[in-house]
Amino acid sequence: MHLAIIGSGYVGLVTGACFADVGHNVICVDNDPRKVESLQAGKVPIYEPGLEEVIHRNVSAKRLRFTGSIKDGVENSEVIFIAVPTPQQPDGSVDLSFIEKVAREIAGVLTEYRVIVDKSTVPVKTGEKVAESIKRYNRHGAKFDVVSNPEFLREGCAVGDLMKPDRIVIGAQSEHAIDLMKKVYEPFMAPILVTDINSAELIKHAANSFLALKISYINAVSAICEASGADVEKVADGIGMDRRIGRNFLNAGIGYGGSCFPKDIAAFITISEQLGVPFHLLKEVQRINAGQKERFLKRIRDTLWVLREKKIAVWGLTFKPDTDDIRSSVAIDLVADMLREGAHVAVYDPKGSEKARAVRELASATFAASAMEAVEGAEALVIATEWSEFANVDLTAVKQAMHTAIVFDGRNLFDPATMRQVGFEYHSIGRERVASS
Ligand SMILES: NC(=O)c1ccc[n+]([C@@H]2O[C@H](COP(=O)([O-])OP(=O)(O)OC[C@H]3O[C@@H](n4cnc5c(N)ncnc54)[C@H](O)[C@@H]3O)[C@@H](O)[C@H]2O)c1
Repeated sequence: MHLAIIGSGYVGLVTGACFADVGHNVICVDNDPRKVESLQAGKVPIYEPGLEEVIHRNVSAKRLRFTGSIKDGVENSEVIFIAVPTPQQPDGSVDLSFIEKVAREIAGVLTEYRVIVDKSTVPVKTGEKVAESIKRYNRHGAKFDVVSNPEFLREGCAVGDLMKPDRIVIGAQSEHAIDLMKKVYEPFMAPILVTDINSAELIKHAANSFLALKISYINAVSAICEASGADVEKVADGIGMDRRIGRNFLNAGIGYGGSCFPKDIAAFITISEQLGVPFHLLKEVQRINAGQKERFLKRIRDTLWVLREKKIAVWGLTFKPDTDDIRSSVAIDLVADMLREGAHVAVYDPKGSEKARAVRELASATFAASAMEAVEGAEALVIATEWSEFANVDLTAVKQAMHTAIVFDGRNLFDPATMRQVGFEYHSIGRERVASS
């Protein structure tokens, strides 16, 4: 099939590459000329494991190309996916101006029947607005259908998630559009759930909110574990072995971040309020999440006493491992907080440093070239992202390189018993505190 994806970011680019990999002809459109130029030159602007290979393979096979022109995409495709940003506004609601602009632009160049699919995460009832907008600006009176097809990929394993999805959600009204969408997804051999458009849109916000709720739940439990001397990992294992609950998303830490969870939970709260059925539970999810970082910072302050002039190493800047994405990363906030308090912070991240260098709040941080360089002479080490590179370091060498061997592990990357053996003072989330030997 001939497909276009408008917006070639974390979602659009991976989706386009994977669609091409199963045999479709794909045009990826973006309005950032530098991004398009770089992709046309064979350079992939984001880090996502395995993505570069899939892109190169499909560009060589002439199934994938890049353009800055929506007209090109619309004219040469049967199905057009929209994967542009839907950022959070200061009041928590979703900024739909990117979606609205793309809908208008598509309408302006629509000359024959097309299926227009919203893949971006949007509030319920956005499909209706997109259809209205296209109808209004549809100069040639071409027929079209609007479909909602939310995306559930996780950054860091997006290619795998795209190729082997748990489910495909198709929200549509027209049988013809449903048939075309089934044809698009047939090669993936995944379960397909067909719903109305509103339900499909709501599924995405409800799913992300539920996952965030699981994280906040275990984080709240972690505080009780610390107060009572229980071990949150054991508690999570015990809860997670129940198949009705499952162990995923029960890792205690310094809270969720990233470009999706914070904004999607805020959006769902706003949507529920606008609909007159406020979802109070989600406010508590947000409150617990913000509290985790504050509790962690308090522990750092309580231990180090004064942060001013302390040399603190931070491992991890991205919101999760295996990505270069630092959007709404708790790690970045943590570093900014410590810098504000006058600490000398040396940071290291395997893939996120380049993007982090552009963050104004981090201007006075030192960017180390390796995890070992960051800890040289440090009075404390903070682990903010659970990269496997950190789990595999030589802990004895780390201890020797540090000025005072104190570790604050915000992701429970290490085992307290190992840290005791090496001789660290070790603080983690919801587990026993290891005093220095
Ligand atoms: N990142 C994720 O893990 C993830 C997962 C599921 C859903 N989503 C949702 O998918 C959507 C896109 O997220 P993302 O992370 O890919 O964003 P992104 O910022 O990485 O990519 C969006 C791209 O759209 C382009 N763009 C903006 N306006 C455009 C226009 N008018 N015409 C053409 N291109 C335009 C931007 O230049 C950018 O390259 C959001 O709604 C997000 O909530 C994201």
